[in-house]
Amino acid sequence: MSRELPTDLRIAPSILASDFARLGAQVEEVMEAGARVIHVDVMDGHFVPPISIGDLIVDALRDQVHDAGGWLDVHLMIEHPERQVAAFAEAGADAISVHAEATPHIHYALQAVRDAGCQAGLALNPATSAEAVAPVADVVDLALCMTVNPGWGGQSFIPGSERKVARLRELLGDGTPITVDGGIDADTAGACAQAGATLFVAGSSVFGGDDPAAAYRKVAEAAGAT
Ligand code: DX5
Ligand code: ZN
Repeated sequence: MSRELPTDLRIAPSILASDFARLGAQVEEVMEAGARVIHVDVMDGHFVPPISIGDLIVDALRDQVHDAGGWLDVHLMIEHPERQVAAFAEAGADAISVHAEATPHIHYALQAVRDAGCQAGLALNPATSAEAVAPVADVVDLALCMTVNPGWGGQSFIPGSERKVARLRELLGDGTPITVDGGIDADTAGACAQAGATLFVAGSSVFGGDDPAAAYRKVAEAAGAT
């Protein structure tokens, strides 16, 4: 059973930057530090050049994350996302974000996510205007604003991205989660929070060092998140 993502401010550690040989232990470390939203980056080698992970990893984490009261937040950086929605929903995703740029059928893809019982997220590349949310607002449960170009962890936050977050907040109103994704750390999270972001994906700033729990708390404090 999927659940609605929280609407208060939360850091969502991205396992893309974790040590996959110790994935369960890494997730446990950040959940013990307070994380409840776990971000899963799926890349297909087409929409973005790298290939990362798929629904088997969502399935592998589902009990650990859900038993601890958490959510699995899946970010599909893949072409034809509508074809994969059912597999990720069955694997245990709570929210599935699909890219506006990845399909000519974005309204259909978002509806397919909802039909599969998950929250539907609209992900937007840096070059895509915030206005793209307007035609599909009736099927959007959350927005994901890329603050780097998708495909790789460890990139620098694109300056000015917070203005797009602010526009998304105007268009969506209060109560809809807005995710920022890419280059989020203790230096960039605060401005995004002020602009109206509520979910802060953090990969290398959390898992890049040797103490993910301490790093998580640092980013959470900067964002004003729990
Ligand atoms: C990038 C992914 C991000 C990535 C962020 O394409 O969507 O979620 O894990 O990594 P950092 O936090 O290192 O920029
Ligand atoms: Zn992501």
